[in-house]
Amino acid sequence: MVQQTREQWGTRAGFLMAAIGSAIGLGNIWRFPYVAYENGGGAFLVPYLVALLTAGIPLLILEYAIGHRYRSSAPLSYRRLLRPAEAIGWWQVVICFVIAVYYAVIIAWAIRYTLFSFGQQWGEDPNAFFFGEFLQTADAPGMVSGYVSGVTWPLIGVWVVVLGVLALGIRNGVEKANRIFIPLLLVLFLVMVVQALTLDGATQGLNALFTPDWGAMRQGSVWIAAYGQIFFSLSIGFGIMVTYASYLRRKSDLTGSALVAGFANSSFELLAGIGVFSALGFMAAAAGTSVDQVATSGLGLAFVAFPQIISSLPFGASFFGVLFFGSLVVAGISSLLSIVQVIVSAVHERTGLGRVPTVLTVGGATALASILLFPTHEGLFFLDVADHFINQYGIALAGLVLIIAVAWIARKLPLFQDHANAVSSLRLGLWWRLTLGIITPALLGYMMWDSLRTELDANYGEYPTPFLLTAGWGVAVGAIVIGVIVSLVPWKRADELAAQDRLADHNPATEGDQ
Ligand code: ALA
Repeated sequence: MVQQTREQWGTRAGFLMAAIGSAIGLGNIWRFPYVAYENGGGAFLVPYLVALLTAGIPLLILEYAIGHRYRSSAPLSYRRLLRPAEAIGWWQVVICFVIAVYYAVIIAWAIRYTLFSFGQQWGEDPNAFFFGEFLQTADAPGMVSGYVSGVTWPLIGVWVVVLGVLALGIRNGVEKANRIFIPLLLVLFLVMVVQALTLDGATQGLNALFTPDWGAMRQGSVWIAAYGQIFFSLSIGFGIMVTYASYLRRKSDLTGSALVAGFANSSFELLAGIGVFSALGFMAAAAGTSVDQVATSGLGLAFVAFPQIISSLPFGASFFGVLFFGSLVVAGISSLLSIVQVIVSAVHERTGLGRVPTVLTVGGATALASILLFPTHEGLFFLDVADHFINQYGIALAGLVLIIAVAWIARKLPLFQDHANAVSSLRLGLWWRLTLGIITPALLGYMMWDSLRTELDANYGEYPTPFLLTAGWGVAVGAIVIGVIVSLVPWKRADELAAQDRLADHNPATEGDQ
């Protein structure tokens, strides 16, 4: 039976590094600084902290408790919680598939940019270089018209590394890789931030980031942005933390681990803000303009503004470039490992197929979809739209539905509270049930309604409607439909699983390790 042979993390530190490695990703480095700046600067830190404490950490604890109690992948854990909730798990598996296929491509770009940093090969016009010479982006979205070899080969490299690590398993693959990646990332990033802080104009950048615009706190959109950032950044709503916690030992401090992972992730995010805005301050000072003239969002910040900054550094330009893009690669790969692990462990448990064959087939299919669709002239458009829709109507919506299922339909929050309290250092009280049962669903529900309204008002990114209907809405709604269909498939292992389901609720957390 699956449960008897279930792998485990070697140590608590190993699990924590993997959980932190999953949380710290591309979202921390290029997304947070810009979101914070756009939404009130220093004043954004208030909604951000509120979101962390009222949704981020409570939901992280819930995901840990679900995975730890049922010791299964996301779909099977939810099934044991409430039979129809298995569909939410498969929905999250599809969400992870969609994210994995484009997330890997951004890492592939970062690999090329680490190499381009030597001698600043992007030349005088990083914008034209990125979209033209490097990505060779088509004029408009459409069918795939050809491949860009400079993106294809590093992408194949990313997938070979990711599937290789996953094939080695949790303890020998994911845990060992994160033990190397996390210290490496910290060193790379700290050196980058210190170098950025010494640049002329760094204070101007930090003032722009941290000067509070208290009026922003009265805007609903600022609070929505804070909750959205916390979800993506902490990797909650993906099924990742349920999966990772399912490999924990019986005696594992769940609440303590959630606090460590949550605060480590937010500290790194703040550090990223400091590093990125010091560099933007330098760029603004060099151009004799203000920071808001040089701050751009998302991919533009990482692959256009940063090359500009690197090229104008008085010394150590190549070194700075390698640190910045190298950090993106390392942070990205440790997150991608966790995203693909959700898919692998779900299929592995459901089909009973061995770990390596599952990694090769399901992981291989994910890699193939990524390689066929994204290193193309049209890839950037697919990436942009898939990212937007799966974030808005995938992760956060799945998180909301999960909370409603646990708190309101199954009414199992007290069960998970007792479960976590039986093994943890910090005891959960009424506050935990109130935040998860009332505050988080109310805020998330409002968030969904508000973003849906904006969505229906105007086409995202001014893309043509047929393109948005297929690559955007099609993907987001398709993920739900596939999730429901897969959960209804009569699998061969049904009898074995039913026996495990019966055992699941007689499964006190304090029982010894198997
Ligand atoms: N949590 C991961 C990130 O921030 C997905 O990129």
